[in-house]
This record gives sequence, structure tokens and C-alpha cells, in this order.
Amino acid sequence: MERGNSYSFRGKSPKIADTAFIAPGAQLIGDVEIADRASVWFNCVLRGDVCHIRIGARSNIQDGTVIHVNSGDFPTLVGEDVLIGHKVMLHGCESQARAFVGRSSVRMGTCVVETGAMVAAGAFLPPGKIARKGELWAGWPAKPIRAMTDEEAAMVVNGPANYAELAAEFRRLQD
Ligand SMILES: CC(C)(COP(=O)(O)OP(=O)(O)OC[C@H]1O[C@@H](n2cnc3c(N)ncnc32)[C@H](O)[C@@H]1OP(=O)(O)O)[C@@H](O)C(=O)NCCC(=O)NCCS
Repeated sequence: MERGNSYSFRGKSPKIADTAFIAPGAQLIGDVEIADRASVWFNCVLRGDVCHIRIGARSNIQDGTVIHVNSGDFPTLVGEDVLIGHKVMLHGCESQARAFVGRSSVRMGTCVVETGAMVAAGAFLPPGKIARKGELWAGWPAKPIRAMTDEEAAMVVNGPANYAELAAEFRRLQD
């Protein structure tokens, strides 16, 4: 299986750990770093042209997600063991370790999803908002709608490890 496409921009090229899985069709541009066992799934775009993008160990960026940055000093940072669902839009924002970002959500500049916080599917998190540990944010625009359940908290912790296993299986097809 082929790996995604990487492009240099302004002298910076994507740096991808050997154990990371980059699916065919993913496009990585410029100042992008992908850590060990992280995965970037089919047809994602990570454009680190006017600032940088960092994806932490074992985190997964699911199919069709678009990640960009804001110019100035507004990178997009994804910590370790983060789940970013299908078709998410991240733009100059931070997802701390073990954050959960639901599918088709949109996250604008400088917003933060803290460790152990959850953004529901289809949510819109406006600039500057902070989802705190244990909170579930949902809606358009998103608001904290309730505390996460114990089940959700467990899913946030365990989900990325399961995804890292799946990614490793796909990664072996590329050797
Ligand atoms: C929000 C979420 C956690 C479900 O919460 P829940 O409390 O179990 O939801 P329920 O099904 O009991 O619905 C409760 C209410 O919230 C609404 N609701 C459910 N999901 C919602 C969402 N994503 N955004 C807005 N409202 C939502 C329901 O319509 C319902 O409204 P009602 O009371 O007016 O009928 C879930 O829908 C979700 O978004 N999970 C994330 C899935 C995902 O993106 N995974 C990524 C990996 S692929």
C-alpha cells in the first residue's frame, strides 16, 4: 500500500515517524510532524504552510479531516492519544492529550479541547473557547451540555489505543 503524499514548502518538509501510518490519499504539506504510532487516514489534508502542525504519539486523524493553521503564531497542536473523528476541520487550535473531537466538527483558531474533554459530532467550537476536562460540548455553536459519563471517559482513554492497533495493521501493508 502506498503512503500519503508529502510536499516541502518554504524549506520545510513533513517529518513522519517510521511507525506512523499515513494512508494513501493523505496530503501533508510543509512544517508537519507526526509522532510514533500516530495515524493520518485516507484523504486527510494537513497544510503546515504559514505555521506548524504537530500530531502526538498514538493520536488518530480520521478520514477526510482537514487541518490548517493561522498565520502568525497559531499552530495546530494535537497531543498524545487524541481522537480526531472523520471529516473534522481543525484550524489553528489545540487538542490536548486524550482529547476527543467528534466527527464532522469544526474548530476555529485558538480554541482548546483540554485533556479528557469531549466535542460531540457535528459541533462548532468558536475561536477562543475552551472545553474543560470532563465536559461534553455539542451544538452549533457548541456549548458545554453536560458532564461526560464514566463510559465516555473510558472511551476517551481507550479509543486511541484501539485505533493505534488498527493503524499498525494497515501500516504493515506498506512495508
Ligand atoms: C453527543 C453524543 C456523545 C451522544 O450523547 P447522548 O447524551 O448519548 O445522546 P442521546 O442520543 O441520548 O441524545 C440526547 C439529546 O442530544 C441530542 N444529540 C445527540 N447527539 C448530538 C450531537 N452530536 N450534537 C447535538 N445534539 C446531539 C439528541 O438528539 C437528543 O436530543 P433530544 O433530547 O432533544 O431528543 C454523541 O451523539 C456524539 O456526538 N458522539 C461522538 C461520536 C463521534 O464523533 N465519534 C468519533 C469517532 S468515529
